[in-house]
Amino acid sequence: MRQVDRIVILTGAGISAESGLGTFRDEGGLWAQHRIEDVATPEGFARDPARVHRFYNARREQAAKATPNPAHDALARLQADFRGEVMLVTQNVDGLHEKAGATAVHMHGELSRALCAACAHRWDAPSEMSVTDTCPKCGMTGARPDVVWFGEMPYHMERILDALQTCDLFAAIGTSGQVYPAAGFVEEARLAGAATVELNLADSDMTHAFDDHVAGPASRTVPLWVDRLLA
Ligand code: APR
Repeated sequence: MRQVDRIVILTGAGISAESGLGTFRDEGGLWAQHRIEDVATPEGFARDPARVHRFYNARREQAAKATPNPAHDALARLQADFRGEVMLVTQNVDGLHEKAGATAVHMHGELSRALCAACAHRWDAPSEMSVTDTCPKCGMTGARPDVVWFGEMPYHMERILDALQTCDLFAAIGTSGQVYPAAGFVEEARLAGAATVELNLADSDMTHAFDDHVAGPASRTVPLWVDRLLA
């Protein structure tokens, strides 16, 4: 295995599945229970903000009760103990990487944060958001969860793309590879000369693009993968 100094890791809902949080596209997942256009688009929020708040209030409550699993713990250990650099990028909004002691770049935002639709001020979200919430800075109503919806630009993209250009190893953990720009990260890393590995319960839409695929539940595969990197 070539010298690895800079690792970029992308996580998706699959890393939190064994913490009891539903994924989106697995059997019975969130998108089988709710229509994306109703709860995860700006148009859906404009049409029925109370419905969107109910959806995210339920997810915020679940995430608050969830605990990290061995996969989250292993990534925190990797960040703490790896001699090189580890950038952990997550599509998840559940805060479990932070609960495990890791630092994550939240490209799809965070359930624990609120965003003012009028002045773009951000603050720590209350456990239950509602249509009557007002912005602490400008006083306007219309506050929304600070979560990136379909049709919106993910956060921190410049920083993420820079890291992909210079990394030696890119790993995608628990993501179906169906949503861009995250699904395209493996190609960016490969073009930059990085080795690429996918850790997933099953094949994803992007499995073909990876050098290696480690099949199995993240709580088993990620600790073993981290042990090898730290050996
Ligand atoms: N261990 C490892 N992988 C798992 C596990 C597990 N225990 N359980 C499920 N998976 C894998 C599935 O095989 C699938 O590839 O996790 C992936 C979950 O895919 P999605 O539900 O599509 O979640 P994700 O890829 O994170 O979705 C990306 O889509 O809806 C938007 O913004 C939302 O961030 C989300 C984005």
